[in-house]
Amino acid sequence: MQSLLLIVGVLLFSCVDAINIYVLPEGGNDTSPLQYGLMFEDINHAGDGGLYAELIRNRAFQGSTVYPANLDGYEPVNGAVLSLKNLSNPLSSSMPSSLNVAKGVQNGIIGFANTGWWGIEVKPHNYAGSFYVKGDYDGDFSVSLQSITTGDVLATARVKARCGVHDWTEHRYNLRPTRQASDTNNTLSITFDTKDLKDESLDFNLISLFPPTWNNRPNGLRIDLVEALSELDAKFLRFPGGSDIEGLLSPYWYKWNETVGPLKDRMSRPSAWGYEESNGIGLIEYMNWCDDLGLEPILAVWDGHYLSGEVINEADLQPYIEDTLNQLEFLMGSVETTYGSWRASLGYPKPWKINYVEIGNEDNLYGGLDTYIAYRFKAYFDAITAKYPDITVMESLTGMPSPQRAASDYHQYTTPDGFVSQFSYFDQFPIDNRTLNGEVATVYPNNPSNSVAWGSPFPLYPWWIGSVAEAVFLIGEERNSPKIIGASYAPTFRNINSWAWSPTLIAFDADSSHTSLSTSWHVIKLLSRNRIAHNLPTTSSEGGIGPIYWVAGQGDKPESYLFKAAVYNSTGDMSVAVTFSGSRAKSATLTVLSSQDPNASNYPGGPEVVQTNVSSVVAKSEGVFQFTLPNLSVAVLTTE
Ligand SMILES: *[C@@H]1O[C@H](CO)[C@@H](O)[C@H](O)[C@H]1NC(C)=O
Ligand SMILES: *[C@@H]1O[C@H](CO)[C@@H](O)[C@H](O)[C@H]1NC(C)=O
Ligand SMILES: *[C@@H]1O[C@H](CO)[C@@H](O)[C@H](O)[C@H]1NC(C)=O
Ligand SMILES: *[C@@H]1O[C@H](CO)[C@@H](O)[C@H](O)[C@H]1NC(C)=O
Ligand SMILES: *[C@@H]1O[C@H](CO)[C@@H](O)[C@H](O)[C@H]1NC(C)=O
Ligand SMILES: *[C@@H]1O[C@H](CO)[C@@H](O)[C@H](O)[C@H]1NC(C)=O
Ligand SMILES: *[C@@H]1O[C@H](CO)[C@@H](O)[C@H](O)[C@H]1NC(C)=O
Ligand SMILES: *[C@@H]1O[C@H](CO)[C@@H](O)[C@H](O)[C@H]1NC(C)=O
Ligand SMILES: *[C@@H]1O[C@H](CO)[C@@H](O)[C@H](O)[C@H]1NC(C)=O
Repeated sequence: MQSLLLIVGVLLFSCVDAINIYVLPEGGNDTSPLQYGLMFEDINHAGDGGLYAELIRNRAFQGSTVYPANLDGYEPVNGAVLSLKNLSNPLSSSMPSSLNVAKGVQNGIIGFANTGWWGIEVKPHNYAGSFYVKGDYDGDFSVSLQSITTGDVLATARVKARCGVHDWTEHRYNLRPTRQASDTNNTLSITFDTKDLKDESLDFNLISLFPPTWNNRPNGLRIDLVEALSELDAKFLRFPGGSDIEGLLSPYWYKWNETVGPLKDRMSRPSAWGYEESNGIGLIEYMNWCDDLGLEPILAVWDGHYLSGEVINEADLQPYIEDTLNQLEFLMGSVETTYGSWRASLGYPKPWKINYVEIGNEDNLYGGLDTYIAYRFKAYFDAITAKYPDITVMESLTGMPSPQRAASDYHQYTTPDGFVSQFSYFDQFPIDNRTLNGEVATVYPNNPSNSVAWGSPFPLYPWWIGSVAEAVFLIGEERNSPKIIGASYAPTFRNINSWAWSPTLIAFDADSSHTSLSTSWHVIKLLSRNRIAHNLPTTSSEGGIGPIYWVAGQGDKPESYLFKAAVYNSTGDMSVAVTFSGSRAKSATLTVLSSQDPNASNYPGGPEVVQTNVSSVVAKSEGVFQFTLPNLSVAVLTTE
């Protein structure tokens, strides 16, 4: 009677699909050392107002014809009159505009406050800041972090003025709040006393405030956001774009030489994403980031094509190619070379090594394809490989007829079903034809025409069924790993206060306790941290693949075996038996990611919607493991 009830129960409630998968002991291929990585460009305030730890918004009033200089982020204190001035002797040619703070009707303490990137997080740790002043003043400056919510002053520093009418003088300060502020609605204010002012006003520029940074790098990165990246155990970083490297229109191409050296000499640039970017994260900051996280740099270079569709003629392309060679010399040249010695003078005598260079970004779009095929790619490819034969030069697209057998870069933004239907996409690629999968993300829900409605709003955050579908696609890619350089989700970051594109891997605002790791972040973390170093052929009791999609192989130690799977669209739980023919393992660890709701998302302040179940599986016999996976799950089994 009991067993009858059990059978009825099984039939009614669980409807198990079963599959036996056999992993053959040999015959596979070594996989790419990179596999999972990161893609970064300053989109969604990913850089300025995000990963770049600078807390002052609009610190140097930089602008362009696209985004004119302005006073965003600034408020007067005690009736001061704030205005933007282009003085005849600016701080630098990179920073032509500055802030003039003039006496209003009130005498006494006046000044300005900066409201940060939609708030400033104040915690009991050290803050290091600086600002430049010009004018006739011999009193003190008072620099304070203050709460708007409570009115409390959280930390103050007195800075003795060393000003002059003719020259800009840098003033440095440190702040150490004794407690955490109640929220991030805080300002940094700088005030002075009109009784010590000989003139009517003072001019300020490059107003800066940094909290502690990752690895204590000066001009460094925001700790909680780097921690979120470091947990992924990523292996490469593609930078500095993305559309952003292309530039909106001439003459705003990405000039690497304007992103290095002292901050006061860094030019700003109109980003592709609705704001002026400071280049605070410049070429050296990117390389430090790679060093700190053990990431292989995939350096994207500008290739003569703007998003506006403007293209550099073949006859005029040479200076831009030389600029790329200069950049490579800056990174890799000895201190005896022109650009290597510049690098050394900035404190980096040891050359870096660049193994991958990508020529442009998505040159199949915005009127770039014809000239890319006709001359642009070849010109860059020839020049780079002549000087650096070991560098893998990458096309910014796939499917281009290319005599050079360069590597390519496949980008895909689609629906959940769209990714699942591309499980076998890379099977057709020849083995010696390697591609990066530089941008992968589910951006639109399944729909009857199974297409993305470009131009209509995308979901704000990755959602579970989409993240499972990405896993299906990434597993298909891992099966082809010798042909694949690696994969990265894009975009990586979104500041929820100001953004141009959703969904993203990580969402954040000024409050580090709000940083939200998406459902896709969890999936990539699981796949990335369990690396298959050598994949193995498999067979199964069911002919085709789906609703379970898998890959198997050996880990970094040959005696360790891994099985990775995603279940998508099963009619119920799947009973899976995996036989590792080469293994004598008696137990294994199974990690299963699942979610109650296929549409659930992680978002700032919301609950964690991804359930992570880790269990130990005892082998039925040596190397044979049986377990159950629910519909819409992603799993990794590793033998012990
Ligand atoms: C002042 O300089 C900014 C660049 O910071 C520029 O965009 C603006 O046109 C200049 N304004 C005037 C009046 O020259
Ligand atoms: C800070 O508080 C002020 C006053 O309540 C409000 O107008 C402003 O939007 C808040 N700013 C942030 C970043 O929360
Ligand atoms: C950076 O290099 C480019 C190309 O060589 C050049 O046009 C530009 O003026 C340089 N920028 C500065 C600030 O020297
Ligand atoms: C790589 O293989 C794909 C699929 O066969 C093909 O479309 C593409 O042109 C090849 N790329 C190169 C650079 O050979
Ligand atoms: C998943 O199932 C739905 C219907 O339940 C179907 O429309 C869709 O095509 C299936 N997707 C895949 C990739 O099997
Ligand atoms: C290994 O590479 C060979 C040669 O391209 C290919 O036929 C085979 O399918 C690959 N095996 C696996 C398990 O990826
Ligand atoms: C499995 O998930 C797919 C996709 O959401 C759904 O169409 C299907 O109904 C699910 N199956 C079960 C048994 O819940
Ligand atoms: C999930 O969202 C899709 C599309 O937005 C909708 O069709 C579907 O009914 C939702 N599923 C659930 C379980 O809420
Ligand atoms: C994960 O574990 C929880 C609690 O132990 C359990 O309720 C849930 O069914 C498990 N989910 C999966 C997918 O195994």
